[in-house]
Amino acid sequence: MTCRAVGPGFGAEVQGIGLADVVASDDAYAAVRTAFEEHSVLLFRDQDVTDQLQLAFSRRFGPLESPTPGTLAESSFFTVLTNVDPATGALMAPDHKESLRAKANQLWHTDSSFKQTPALTSILSARAIPPTGGETEFASTRLAWDRLPAARRAQLADAFAWHSYAHSRGKIAPHLASEREKSSLPPARWRMRWRNPVNGRDALYVASHTYAIDGMNDADAQSFIDELIAFTTMPGCTFEHRWRAGDVIMWDNRAVLHRGRPWPPDAPRHMVRTTVAATDLDGLAEMHGRALTSPASAGSSRRPSPPATRTSP
Ligand code: OGA
Ligand code: MN
Repeated sequence: MTCRAVGPGFGAEVQGIGLADVVASDDAYAAVRTAFEEHSVLLFRDQDVTDQLQLAFSRRFGPLESPTPGTLAESSFFTVLTNVDPATGALMAPDHKESLRAKANQLWHTDSSFKQTPALTSILSARAIPPTGGETEFASTRLAWDRLPAARRAQLADAFAWHSYAHSRGKIAPHLASEREKSSLPPARWRMRWRNPVNGRDALYVASHTYAIDGMNDADAQSFIDELIAFTTMPGCTFEHRWRAGDVIMWDNRAVLHRGRPWPPDAPRHMVRTTVAATDLDGLAEMHGRALTSPASAGSSRRPSPPATRTSP
């Protein structure tokens, strides 16, 4: 197996090993797992992807996550990102819920930081690719962490932020997250630094879903979050992947931000994602931190209650 660099200091194309090898061989899995920990984004080209192969490959990396409530194919392990109506084959209108979801995916984010268990890795395969646009862009939160001034790193290492699905969806349309989606996805609180236990590398943990920081007022927190995302994704620090038939990409949600890029609405785009939940082996335990105790509950270990979300744009 060889790795060819594809991004500015992170990201690699894996050559000589494919998805089927990882399914069939412990050694192939170990080699790819090592590359994943190191490079954060792995590209596999010319794969004969089927749902079953993608599923079996994904399972190698840990427990599969169930898709977010309200998304297509909700009851499977597949998150389907498409503008092709599965019932009719027609392209969806720009105001269709799936088209609005695609717009939300075009905000810099990490997958599932708004869930009670965040994601380790997402595996995305291209099934229909538009002739122009529709790229996926990545930025390294690990390299961003290293670029931050030491005083900022010290501040962030022990800071905790709140992530909410309603917040990021609300940036696109006020009611994009339904009441059912909102109630099944209460806000989640995570440390703002994710340390990879394999190599000790730290990464900034912040996303479009982040809406509050403990100990900071909302307006200051939101501008700080925006500033951190802008710093992470500044020109020269990202790379855009132009999809080709047969491409599969996996990324480390602990160590990169990603976003979809727009494409002409009259062109079909169909992507299938599987998502692996993070576990304590992936550094999750440290992300919870200790629960805050209020005077009324001093001594108890209840989780702090989330600050209110503002869901209007
Ligand atoms: C995702 C995602 C962006 C894209 O699958 O999690 O954000 O380019 N995708 O489809
Ligand atoms: Mn995503």
